[in-house]
Amino acid sequence: MPDRRDMSLDLFAHRLLARGLICTTQSARNANEAPVVFTLAHLSDIHLSPLPKVKSHQLLSKRFLGYVNWHHGRKFVHRRDVLDLLSRDVKERKPDHIAVTGDLTNLGLPQEFPPTAAWLRGLGKPDTVTVIPGNHDAYVRLHPDKTTAHWRPFMEENAAGQALHPQSAGGFPFVRRFGDIALVALSSAVPTAPFVAAGWLGSEQRQALAQCLDKLGQEGLFRIVLIHHPPLPGQASWRRALRDATDVRDVLREHGAELVLHGHNHEQSVHELETVSGPAIVVGVPSASEAVDGRIPAARYNEYAIERAGNGWHVEMTGRAATAGGQVRDCEKRQLRRR
Ligand SMILES: [Fe+2]
Ligand SMILES: [Fe+2]
Repeated sequence: MPDRRDMSLDLFAHRLLARGLICTTQSARNANEAPVVFTLAHLSDIHLSPLPKVKSHQLLSKRFLGYVNWHHGRKFVHRRDVLDLLSRDVKERKPDHIAVTGDLTNLGLPQEFPPTAAWLRGLGKPDTVTVIPGNHDAYVRLHPDKTTAHWRPFMEENAAGQALHPQSAGGFPFVRRFGDIALVALSSAVPTAPFVAAGWLGSEQRQALAQCLDKLGQEGLFRIVLIHHPPLPGQASWRRALRDATDVRDVLREHGAELVLHGHNHEQSVHELETVSGPAIVVGVPSASEAVDGRIPAARYNEYAIERAGNGWHVEMTGRAATAGGQVRDCEKRQLRRR
């Protein structure tokens, strides 16, 4: 029978877990078991299907082109059964946290947001899932109450993150801290003209990002930046690019980050950016719903195992991809950092 001291220690640990002050890995539960490995799954661009019924007046905008595009091609590419396969796999692997980097919807219709919120809830509780918007989620200008407000519990700082960098008035960046790991969530989603899928962080978010990275760096944390658009110049055509990518790259360079995760290009990519605190690894992930017989690559998500190693970090990435046989298999294993 446990004594009172054991019980109060358990209660104390439970409270720390609930507040995000320590991480939830198996090894973290036993202080004698080092090192602690934090696992993070990264999904993006689910472009949830099926598309809900669209009212004709909702197509009197850029959405008309998106609607035609969806029915003439995209609905055959982004499949719900493929997404469900990957979602099940993520949940079965029980990562410590899941990050979803935007483009959950297709036309940014108000009626697309409740189903995407339900899909997020199906992935896990809001304190274990973080989401940011993509350009499809800001297709046309709408009041947030009709759109991303449905995702709010998944887009809020936790207590440990707030203590380091309170959430900006505009909502981004916000910080979620789990022990030695800090997620810094950004929004590059802005409405744009027809045929344009560009993004923009803007000076306020860039300034807040710089301060935030400094603070988290001083604490010695492993900083993971989440952004929908690829953050480096040249990673996307002008029509699809982050317009202030040069400035964003400079902020990362001058203030440091360990890992930057993005979507938008629907393809796997790995870049290294030299920063004031060492290399930042910038990784793009394919769509999590892309049909196996569609364009290459098939649906995939990445899982990161992150652990402190001496004065640095050890990070291993495992790609999990859908196969033609309806399975999910390891498709890549790669050491991203060894120091
Ligand atoms: Fe996308
Ligand atoms: Fe996108």
